[in-house]
Amino acid sequence: MLSLRLKTIEELVETDKIVADIGTDHALLPVELVLSGKIKKAYAVDNKNGPFLRAQQYIKTMGCEPFIEAMLSDGLSSVPQDANCWVIAGMGYDTAAMILDQRPTVTLGQQLIVQVNHGVEHLRRYLMNGSWQIIDEKIIFDAHYYQIIKAVKVKSVVRLKIEDIDYGPILRKEKNPVFTEYWQFQIQKLQKIVDQLDRGSKRGQQLQKQIHSIKVMLNG
Ligand SMILES: C[S@@+](CC[C@H](N)C(=O)[O-])C[C@H]1O[C@@H](n2cnc3c(N)ncnc32)[C@H](O)[C@@H]1O
Repeated sequence: MLSLRLKTIEELVETDKIVADIGTDHALLPVELVLSGKIKKAYAVDNKNGPFLRAQQYIKTMGCEPFIEAMLSDGLSSVPQDANCWVIAGMGYDTAAMILDQRPTVTLGQQLIVQVNHGVEHLRRYLMNGSWQIIDEKIIFDAHYYQIIKAVKVKSVVRLKIEDIDYGPILRKEKNPVFTEYWQFQIQKLQKIVDQLDRGSKRGQQLQKQIHSIKVMLNG
């Protein structure tokens, strides 16, 4: 049974894609995708021996060996060209960006589903600068808040506004209840910091400005 976070990622994968799950750990996602019949082929990639062996074992136990190839490899370095949907989830922004940097040339139409544990605004900027168009976004609460981005490689990307980078081009328009709850939670966190700072301090003023921008966005 997948966690809500992995289930949400699974739902973003399109039928019959060839998935490369980079940093697969147990290979839970590719196994579920194959067992559900959504896809017929996947690569489960991890660069560490322990997770790689776990993935290999789980794939075997679940009878998915004919469909999923476990690979002990760094990021995208050895991922075959036929993988048309890359998944990078459960890492920090720096690692995700480093993995994507390994493929400076990407086929147009390539899909990417990415969930970083921190630095999502840096990720959106990175994607825009690399001609990855964001085509879907999800926010979920699964013990923590997670934002999941689906993007496609395009020839000419629609530039994101600063609000799109900060809050998500799709999420900020949708403003679903989890999104609102997340930003209200951020406001509370920022307000607590402001309350501990000296009245009128520069940092306090910056944070007040940030709180104001979030409120404007939520009410907009
Ligand atoms: C926290 S787990 C996430 C597992 C799964 N993707 C998920 O979202 O639940 C991160 C995994 O990424 C792997 N990893 C980190 N850097 C990697 C890289 N450069 N190439 C391949 N795997 C990597 C780690 O070994 C670890 O198994």
